[in-house]
Amino acid sequence: MNYTIKTINASETYGVRQPVLRDGKPIETCMFDGDNLQTTFHLGLYITNELVGICSFFKNNHPLIANASQYQLRGMAILDAYQGLGLGTLILSHGETLLKQQGIPVIWCNARVKATEFYNKMGYKIIGEPFDIKDIGLHYCMYKPL
Ligand SMILES: CC(C)(COP(=O)(O)OP(=O)(O)OC[C@H]1O[C@@H](n2cnc3c(N)ncnc32)[C@H](O)[C@@H]1OP(=O)(O)O)[C@@H](O)C(=O)NCCC(=O)NCCS
Repeated sequence: MNYTIKTINASETYGVRQPVLRDGKPIETCMFDGDNLQTTFHLGLYITNELVGICSFFKNNHPLIANASQYQLRGMAILDAYQGLGLGTLILSHGETLLKQQGIPVIWCNARVKATEFYNKMGYKIIGEPFDIKDIGLHYCMYKPL
């Protein structure tokens, strides 16, 4: 499959964040704190000219992880019709490579229970206890040394 991965603006992510991660919820719920910080970046995966996958990377430390320099993965989503084709692996791997090139030693995320197997296959490990995020459900913190 021919694809392109490029850096996009926060507002460009909403077209995938909303249907996949905030279905039926207002567009405001797609706006994350820190989306427009200089240290934040967003990636988009395009098939021809259609944006089908996104993920965002925030400079943010987790209290259970010791490294001084960490990034948090947020808003990881592939449009329903394109899931299971390896695109999530491609875009997340691309982001991990960029972080590694910047000397960032560890990435973490709050993973929805149904996505833990995806992160597991990407080399992420669970740390700490499961916790609830209001209106979204049970999550695990997962991390990966880069
Ligand atoms: C989770 C998600 C980003 C994965 O992207 P994807 O393109 O579908 O995943 P890939 O095709 O790259 O899958 C990579 C591997 O993970 C597995 N996997 C992916 N999603 C899975 C799931 N929900 N449950 C179990 N395994 C899954 C695949 O089977 C594949 O395994 P394989 O290498 O043995 O074949 C995507 O399915 C998605 O957007 N889901 C809905 C939103 C979501 O839950 N986002 C995460 C929020 S924390």
